[in-house]
Parts: sequence; C-alpha cells; structure tokens
Amino acid sequence: MSILIKNGRVVTASESYIADVYTEGEKIVAIGKDLNYQADKIIDATDKLVFPGGIDPHVHLDMPFMGTYSSDDYETGTRAALHGGTTMVIDFILQTQGDTLHNALKTWQEKSKKAIGDYSYHMAVTDFNDDVAKEVVQMIEDEGISSFKTFMAYKGALMIDDGQMVQLMKVVKKHGGLVTVHATNGDMIDSLIAKNRALGNMSPLYHYLSQPEVTEAEASARFADMLHYTDCPGYIVHMTCEGALNAVRKATQRNQKVFVETCTQYLVLDASLYKNDFEGAKWVMSPPLREKKDQVALWSGINQGLVQVVGTDHCPFMWEQKKMGKDDFSKIPNGHPAIEHRMELLFSEGVNKGKISLTKYVEVASTNAAKIFGMYPRKGTIAIGSDADIVIFDPNKEHTISVETHHMNCDYSGYEGFNLKGKTETVILRGQVAIENEDCLLKAGHGEFIKRGKTSKTVI
Ligand code: URP
Ligand code: ZN
Ligand code: ZN
Ligand code: ZN
Repeated sequence: MSILIKNGRVVTASESYIADVYTEGEKIVAIGKDLNYQADKIIDATDKLVFPGGIDPHVHLDMPFMGTYSSDDYETGTRAALHGGTTMVIDFILQTQGDTLHNALKTWQEKSKKAIGDYSYHMAVTDFNDDVAKEVVQMIEDEGISSFKTFMAYKGALMIDDGQMVQLMKVVKKHGGLVTVHATNGDMIDSLIAKNRALGNMSPLYHYLSQPEVTEAEASARFADMLHYTDCPGYIVHMTCEGALNAVRKATQRNQKVFVETCTQYLVLDASLYKNDFEGAKWVMSPPLREKKDQVALWSGINQGLVQVVGTDHCPFMWEQKKMGKDDFSKIPNGHPAIEHRMELLFSEGVNKGKISLTKYVEVASTNAAKIFGMYPRKGTIAIGSDADIVIFDPNKEHTISVETHHMNCDYSGYEGFNLKGKTETVILRGQVAIENEDCLLKAGHGEFIKRGKTSKTVI
C-alpha cells in the first residue's frame, strides 16, 4: 500500500511547513514539494494539518481495579484512540503482589492480542525483592519494556514502600530504564478517607477533599529526592498541581532528570464539578481535579519545558460500576473515559486558544513520549524512515463531545456538551488507513506490540 498526502501543513515538534508526504509499506518514504509518485491512494490535505500519530503513554485497558475491570478493552480502547488521532498507547501491566512480573506479562499479552492500534506496556512493580530485580533486568534487556511504574498510594494492593522504591531505582538506573510513579502520599490519604467516612461524609466531594494538594506535592518531592539519591531518571504520571510542579522545578535546579506528564482533564476541568451529589462520581479519579490556579501552573509548565507529556490516564467505568460507591465515595472505581478526546481537546483548548504553539502541541502529544519511552524516531515524528503513523486534521471543524457519538465503551462522558474546534479527519497507522469518514477500517489484531529501547539511549 502506498499513500500520497498532498499540500498539507506538516507539523513536527520543531517545524511547520507545507509539503507532500509519501508513504510506502509501513514507512514514510518521501517528504517534499510537488511529489510525483504513483500512489495507491491520494489524499488532498489542503488547509489541513499533517502531524505524527498521537502517543498516549497512560491508559488502563481491561485492568482489574477496585473490585472490577476498566470497561474498555484493547479492541474498543485502541479503536476509540484511533478515532481521536492517537495511534499508539502505553498500557500498565500490574504485577500481583507475591507473584512474578513474567506471569503478569503473560496475562497482558493475552489481553492485547485484539488491539487495533499499536501498544506497549509499562511494568508496574507492586512487590519488589531480589527475584523481581532479576526480572526487571530481563524486561529491559529481552522484552523491550524499559519503564517501571510504582505507586506511592493504594496500600495493600499496589503501593511499595520507600525502601523498595530505592532498591528498584538502583537496578533500573544500572540498566538504562526509567522509573515512573503515581506520586501521592498513600498513608495520609488513607487517614483522611477514614476520617471522612467516620464523620459520614460519603459523597464524591469527599474523594476530592481526602486528596489535598499537599499529598501530591509531598510525594512528588520525596520521589525526586529518592531519584537524586540513586541518580536514576524518573517520570511522574498524571501531575495535577502547582505544589507538585514546584517540587520538580527544584529538582531540575539540581540538574536532575525528572520528566512530568499531566493529563487533559487537569488542564481543562476543575474541582468545581464536585458537588455534594453523586454526579461527581464521573470525575472520581486519583489525583482528583484541582483548582483554576493549578491549570495555569500546568499550561505554564508545558511552555517552560517542565511538563513534557500530556496523557489521559484513561480508565473508564460504566455508570453501574461507578454506583458500587453510591453510599461510600471510597468504593467508587477511580478513573474516567478520555482516550478518544486527548488530541482534539488539547488542540482546541491549547492551540486554538493561544495557550501553546502548534509545534509544542506535537511535542507533548506525541514526540516527547516517543523520546522518553525509547521509541524515537520510529514513532513520534514525520520523517523519512519513521513509521507512517499520520493524522490529517481539520483545524477549523467544530464539533461537540457526547456519549452519543464517542467510541469508548463507557455509557457517560465526563465532557458532555464540550464544544471543540479542530477535528481528526483521517488517521494512518503504519501505512494503512485506520480512520476515514468517521469509520475505523482496521480490525482487531492489527495493533503491534512495539519493543522499546532504553531511555538512556534517547534522552539522557
Ligand atoms: O483514578 C485513576 N487514576 N485511576 C487509574 C489508576 C491510576 O491511579 O492511575
Ligand atoms: Zn470520532
Ligand atoms: Zn495513578
Ligand atoms: Zn493511571
């Protein structure tokens, strides 16, 4: 299959220019003015943007969590991602405490056979010892899994203690990988949850009030200090607030490598959505939505280069699942549906409203994730030799988000009625048309596991 994309504005993390792009097989083969190839398919991209497929490095597909499973699996989740212009996701494998990383890997390899879009995994280490240390090395050297997720919260299920954290960092540093973290103070949050429950404060509002900014700022600073002590590179997922960002700013003054991801919801939604009724369950996620001043800090953090990546933390649950916590906020499964809307929300709220530039948009939606997670330049850019993962985007098309039209397997939207300017039109994945005229043309099983290299080879 060959495709010739004519006259679009090609945007990368560093440039924006009018050109044609020609793909053959799975790769980009030529970029230039007035290309004259006999292609199987020609796409007129006049007045459209042509940028690299989005990479969402934070999704939870078919994940066992809080007594249930997230409602998008690899097929529905990667299809919805493609509809929104995200051609690759990185999902989280969860080690069961007391069990091996390899057993967890087998479980996720089975789940991901039906992926439509490309994918990789972060390995979540929930229990660390000498045997697991050997497995960590095998993951990096043999399996192409170079990032290790840790939780400083969710005690009893996912959390590791600081001693395990430091030992893990030492092994990962030695072998060129990256430690990523859910940085919130689990003990502090658990005690606030217990206090609110004892007082009979059971609505979703108290989910928010049990995770104040300090719980995230403290854990982010502690994580940065442990990275400093071990000289390990690190990545903080789903950062929401000014206090946590200041901890990273301080770490960068010591010339540390601490990468930061925020998520679309923290940039565009705020805590005024939590009222004293059950509606707020739509946005029960951890950390919770924050304040307007935190949105300002995050957008500035993107422009200052302190925040490198915008993901989603997509972790959808049906309304019936959310109702598991209708009498107790601590039983509401944490997470919300977002995988489909990341690129369009970030474009509409960020680029169209003048908060970030077009090149910055590509950088945080695709390129930086490819670099930090060891896939660049195969993924994350429009260049000769790169995978032909391409989005053709109409920057002027207006549309409205609704559960009626979204493709995620979730029966509500946390963005219902949100008006957007800018829409994904055509999506190409490794040289094949994936999305055209609102239809997904690829089938379950098309998605490929992308073996990743070491972070130390690409950015450090
Ligand atoms: O609420 C969230 N974030 N759910 C998914 C698990 C996690 O902490 O990322
Ligand atoms: Zn769509
Ligand atoms: Zn998390
Ligand atoms: Zn998450």
